[in-house]
Amino acid sequence: MAYNLLKGKRGIIFGALDENSIAWKVALKAHEEGAQFTLTNAPIAMRMGEINKLAETCGATVIPADATSIEDLENLFAKSMEALGGKIDFVLHSIGMSPNIRKGRDYGDMNYEWFLKTLDISALSFHKVMQVAEKKDALNEYASIVALSYIAAQRSFPDYTDMAQAKAALESIARSYGARLGKMKKVRVNTISQSPTKTTAGKGISGFDAFYDFADMMSPLGNASAEECADYTISMFSDLTRKVTMQNLMHDGGFCHSGITNELIERLSK
Ligand SMILES: NC(=O)c1ccc[n+]([C@@H]2O[C@H](COP(=O)([O-])OP(=O)(O)OC[C@H]3O[C@@H](n4cnc5c(N)ncnc54)[C@H](O)[C@@H]3O)[C@@H](O)[C@H]2O)c1
Repeated sequence: MAYNLLKGKRGIIFGALDENSIAWKVALKAHEEGAQFTLTNAPIAMRMGEINKLAETCGATVIPADATSIEDLENLFAKSMEALGGKIDFVLHSIGMSPNIRKGRDYGDMNYEWFLKTLDISALSFHKVMQVAEKKDALNEYASIVALSYIAAQRSFPDYTDMAQAKAALESIARSYGARLGKMKKVRVNTISQSPTKTTAGKGISGFDAFYDFADMMSPLGNASAEECADYTISMFSDLTRKVTMQNLMHDGGFCHSGITNELIERLSK
């Protein structure tokens, strides 16, 4: 059911790779809720052409941008404001990539060039997006900016390796830039810490299926799906959450506050 929560709002959505992507679901819901937006992804991720199908459904313009490139981001904000006919009301940063994870490197055998790439793509890019938006004066008052995070920012998960540091930096950037943009323009900046979700990025982590099931058993409400994450993100883009900022918002069915559950006790007692 749609509520017109984003009627008249203009946005930029990063990270819709295929129909499993969390950003893909956010784009569909934002469209349902009346928003106009541009879609963007790294040029290399667009080769499959999947994003064009989404753009057609949502009436969105696709503008390629490597989120680590200031030049690409400047072009993205300029073209987005042109295509949408005004300044931006919401931005979704749904970007994560670790060459160390992709190439199966152990945490005791990190390639540091790749480590820096992980941090640049998955965390610094969030700062770059906001710095470019600020310098271009591209945001409307009360705009809302959301990035997606994971609980490995606070707890250790063996196979999440350098992405854990990237998520910790991402959440810290949300607080620091949230303070700045809040004071300057009443703009909100938050991260949503999402349950394990079956997407390309998620399934790239070894042992993913086991910790997906573990998290599901440890969460009184069960794992949050990509669609549910999209619902929450839409509420953060709406005018109903204007005083929520500088938060890391747990969207995990209660996982982060569970010690153990009966379901897990039963499973381990077998
Ligand atoms: N899937 C999970 O279990 C899970 C859980 C919590 C948080 N998250 C986070 O959600 C976000 C979205 O991931 P997803 O699960 O939808 O997977 P996904 O693989 O569909 O999305 C990741 C996106 O990052 C994009 N990307 C990579 N490098 C880029 C670059 N240089 N410039 C621009 N874009 C780039 C990819 O093209 C892709 O679209 C990520 O931040 C991820 O860490 C995922």
